[in-house]
Amino acid sequence: MPNQITENQTKAWGGVFTENTDARVEEFTESISFDRRLYEVDIRGSVAHARMLCDVGILLPDEFRAIEGGLLEIKREIEAGQFSFRVQFEDIHMHIEHALIEKIGDVGRKLHTARSRNDQVVTDLRLWIRDEIDAVDSGLAELQRAFVGRCDSDVDVILPAYTHTRRAQPVLASHVWLAYCEKFERDRERLRDCRRRVNILGLGAAALAGTSIPIDRNKTAKYLGFDSVAANSLDVSSDRDFVLEAAFCLMEIAIHASTFAEEWILWSTTEFNFIKLPQTFCTGSSIMPQKVNPDVLELIRGKTARVVGNLQTLIVLTKGLPLAYNRDLQEDKQPIFDSFDTIKSILAVSVPLVSGMELNVEAIGGQLGDGYLDATTLMEFLILQGIPQRTAHGIVGKLVRLAIESAVPLDKLSLQQFQTVYAGFDKNVYSCLGAKSAVASMKSYGSTAPDQVKTQIKNWKEKLQI
Ligand code: ARG
Repeated sequence: MPNQITENQTKAWGGVFTENTDARVEEFTESISFDRRLYEVDIRGSVAHARMLCDVGILLPDEFRAIEGGLLEIKREIEAGQFSFRVQFEDIHMHIEHALIEKIGDVGRKLHTARSRNDQVVTDLRLWIRDEIDAVDSGLAELQRAFVGRCDSDVDVILPAYTHTRRAQPVLASHVWLAYCEKFERDRERLRDCRRRVNILGLGAAALAGTSIPIDRNKTAKYLGFDSVAANSLDVSSDRDFVLEAAFCLMEIAIHASTFAEEWILWSTTEFNFIKLPQTFCTGSSIMPQKVNPDVLELIRGKTARVVGNLQTLIVLTKGLPLAYNRDLQEDKQPIFDSFDTIKSILAVSVPLVSGMELNVEAIGGQLGDGYLDATTLMEFLILQGIPQRTAHGIVGKLVRLAIESAVPLDKLSLQQFQTVYAGFDKNVYSCLGAKSAVASMKSYGSTAPDQVKTQIKNWKEKLQI
C-alpha cells in the first residue's frame, strides 16, 4: 500500500513529517486570510485540469464528474458563507482540495495529479488578473464616457490653461476633458497589451520540471480561455512579470487620476472658483461650519500613493529570487489585490464626480481677460507677417509690460500704443486678441481650435459608442 494519509491529518505533506507544525508557524505562513478571494478561479482551474485529466484517460469519466460536482458544491458553500476557513489548511488551494476529499472521498485525492501548488497559484492569479483587467477596462471606458459626455454642454466654455501653475493660453473646456480621455486610452491600451502576457497557461509545469504523466496542456488552455501555453516549466512558477506589469498599468491609471483630482481640487477653491463639486461628493469639517471639503478628490490623490507603493513592493519582492517557486512569492497577492481594489474604487467615484461637476461659467468668463492669455497668439500673428520668432517674442514681451503698466489687457491697448513698440501694427492686430479669438485662431492638428476639438469629440463618441 502507498503511504496512507490518515483521516485527521490536515496537511498535504504528511508523510515525511513526524511532528506537527508549530501554531505560530501556521499563523505566520498562512495566506487563506487574503487568498480566499481566489476561490472561484481556483475551482475554475481545477475543473479544467480534471476535465483534461479525464480527456487523456488519467481520470475515469465518473471520477471527473464526482470531482467537478464536489468542486461546484464547494463553490456554492463558499458563496453562501457556509464554508469554514482555518489557518491549518494554509491557503485556498489546500482548503478546497481538503473539502473535496471530505466530500467525495478517495477520488478527490486524484485531483492534484500532474500539478503542484506552484503552477496552480500562478494559474489562479492569471485568471483572476485577466478578469480584473477586463473590469478596470470597463471602468476606464465609463470614465472616458463621463468626460466626453460633458463636451457638448461645455463646448463654448473657454478655460485658462496653466503651465507652472501660471496662466498660459486659453483652451476649450472640452479640450481639457479630451486630454484625460487620451491618458485613459493609453491606460486601456497598456492593459490590453499586458493582458496578452497574462493570458498564458502555466498549469502543467507542475513543481518545476513538468510531469511524466501524459497530460495535454493545450486542452487545459482551451478550457480556461488561455491563448497559449507557457513553454518552460522552470520559468512558470518564478514568473511574476505579469503581476508587475499589471501593477505598473494600474500605477499609471492612479497617476492620471491624481492629476485630474489635483486640478479639480485647485479649481474648486474660492481662489480659482472654476467649478462646483456635487455636494454629495464633498464632506464637511467637524469644527469649521463653513467648510465644504473635496475629500473624495484628495483621497483619489492620496490613494495613488498605495498603488505606487504596491508596484514598488512587487519589484523588491521579485528582485534576486532564483528560478522556480520560492515562498516569498506568496507576498505578491496583497499588493496586486490592493492595487486593483483601489483603482476600481477610484474609477467608481470618479465617474459620477465628473458628470456631476458644474462649471462656474460666469466666474471663469469674468477672469479670462487676466493673465495675458492671448500673448502667444499675438506673437504668432507677427510671425505670420514675416517677423522672426525671437523678434516677435521681444515685441510682445514689451507690449505685455506696457499693458501691465497701464493696468489693462492687451486688447485694451490703443493702436498708437501698439505702434510705439512696433510701427508695422495696424488695426488687424485686434483680430487675434482676447481669449476667444486666441482659441479661434488655432489651426494645427490636435490643437484647441474649435474645429479640431469638434472632430475629436466625434471620434471619441464613435470609439466609445456614445
Ligand atoms: N499559498 C502559496 C502562494 O500563495 C501557494 C503556493 C505554495 N507552494 C508551496 N510550494 N508551498 O504562493
